[in-house]
Amino acid sequence: MHELGSDGSGRSAVADAAWWRSAAIYQLYVRSFADCNGDGVGDLAGVRAQLGYLAGLGIDAVWFNPWYPSPMSDAGYDISDYRNIDPVFGTLADADALIAEAHALGIRIIIDVVPNHASDRHPWFRAALAAAPDSPERDRFWFRPGRGPRGELPPNGWQSIFGGPAWTRVTEPDSSPGEWYLHLFAPEQPDFNWANADVRTEFEEVLRFWFDRGADGVRIDSAALLSKDGRLPEVSPDEPPGPQHPYSDRDDVHEIYRSWRRLAEQYQERVLIGEIWIPDAVRLARYVSPGELHTVFNFPYLSCPWDASQLRAVIDHTLALNGPVGSPATWVLSNHDVDRIVTRLGRPDTAFSLQRRPYFHSLPVDLELGTRRARAAALLTLALPGSVYIYQGEELGLWEVQDIPDERKQDPIWRRTGGADPGRDGSRVPLPWAGDEPPFGFSPAGSVVQPWLPQPKEWRDLTVAAETANAGSMLELYRAALAIRRSEAALGDGPITWLPSATGVLAFQRGAGVCCVVNLSAAPVPLPDHSGLLLASGVLDGQLLPPDCAVWLRTADQAGTPPR
Ligand code: NOJ
Repeated sequence: MHELGSDGSGRSAVADAAWWRSAAIYQLYVRSFADCNGDGVGDLAGVRAQLGYLAGLGIDAVWFNPWYPSPMSDAGYDISDYRNIDPVFGTLADADALIAEAHALGIRIIIDVVPNHASDRHPWFRAALAAAPDSPERDRFWFRPGRGPRGELPPNGWQSIFGGPAWTRVTEPDSSPGEWYLHLFAPEQPDFNWANADVRTEFEEVLRFWFDRGADGVRIDSAALLSKDGRLPEVSPDEPPGPQHPYSDRDDVHEIYRSWRRLAEQYQERVLIGEIWIPDAVRLARYVSPGELHTVFNFPYLSCPWDASQLRAVIDHTLALNGPVGSPATWVLSNHDVDRIVTRLGRPDTAFSLQRRPYFHSLPVDLELGTRRARAAALLTLALPGSVYIYQGEELGLWEVQDIPDERKQDPIWRRTGGADPGRDGSRVPLPWAGDEPPFGFSPAGSVVQPWLPQPKEWRDLTVAAETANAGSMLELYRAALAIRRSEAALGDGPITWLPSATGVLAFQRGAGVCCVVNLSAAPVPLPDHSGLLLASGVLDGQLLPPDCAVWLRTADQAGTPPR
């Protein structure tokens, strides 16, 4: 375990057990962050080379999307070895060095753990394929005979979340057509059977492996899906997740996370973060009840349209559910599965849902409007109580790349829906670092291999180099906001008080010293009483806050409260 260093910002070098309650967490999609060896794919050496950038941005922790050995059928969410690093990203020694170097800069490391499914190349699944029906090897997954006279039909009608049936038939070692196995995602991602003791033990050992190497927490992929009803009842598409659902948000999944929490408590300050896409916020809150996960992603906030009353309702609802269980809220504007925020907020319909991505992609986009709103959304999000996630590239104002040529698309969602769903590649395009043309410093100068997804040439204006020291850039807005958020004790975890405001305006007080006002209406609004301007997302018109603009105001006479 490495000691966390002091970053000179007033943050203590002494371990802070509650760091996660206020943390600004950067989501780092390794494939697209920085490519050090010139193969067109980001790698851990690229991350190590840019740790200074992350420290300078002012984040507290980095969450890495999966970095394990994987055939990459789902960009690393198909893991063949949970205790190593994929060669395309580097080595275990690189990960160790990265963790140590990040810790020295005061940055904590959160890794992605994928417990619902493995890769079909995982040794356990290969052993299951080689073994007989009803064997202990097959019991670690969901193997079942097919229906129909010759077992030619899948065991039931469950559908994959990526499109098509959730079952694939295997060929038995004697070459006969055999059993079927369950995969809630792609066929290359067989689901584990969490009723099997080997599976439970294995994942506890995987957690220990990474905690022992210094990981500060885990993001748990598809955390509500682990438990399945072994009777395999049919499910209708409108069956809500919950105890009656055959595989989503079943009650006994909580037992797994209680045992993980006990394990995490044996280490110091390790956090468990759940990725849970269920619409029922009351059921969501159960995952963060005492003795379970520390936090869950706030997808209702991520999906909320740019509308003051709807945002206010989501914020209030989130706080009302988190408060009683003592868990801090989380706030997230985007990630590697959803459309980038600039694009979403530039559409005539600013909501988002995974199921309706084709519709959202059919809408026109006003990038200038989307950028203006995304700046305001950043100040809103960073001012809310709790922890916050920043998806790489959000700090540069990158947009969703909606015109990736079909032959360059990689996402299994696009393939498995026959192109009906454009998929998630548009939010995963490699970062632009510097220069006037692709690869914009993503790969080293002189690299002959193109980045794994093509970058728009317009991103020349959105490179880290172009935005640095540019007062009106998204990057400088994020840097300034994160610096203030860190130095103001009132921001991060803590109380919030709504202030009276005009229709279409969100205004709230954080502690005694800071107030945030966001104008989502169509008309300029007067600023409330204040003693100074801390930060604005756009240019103010005297004492008026223009539409789609946000400010942080100093509301105390003195310099506010001391830094935390
Ligand atoms: C959720 C992850 O965020 C997504 O990228 C992945 O495809 C699915 N889980 C399956 O692992």
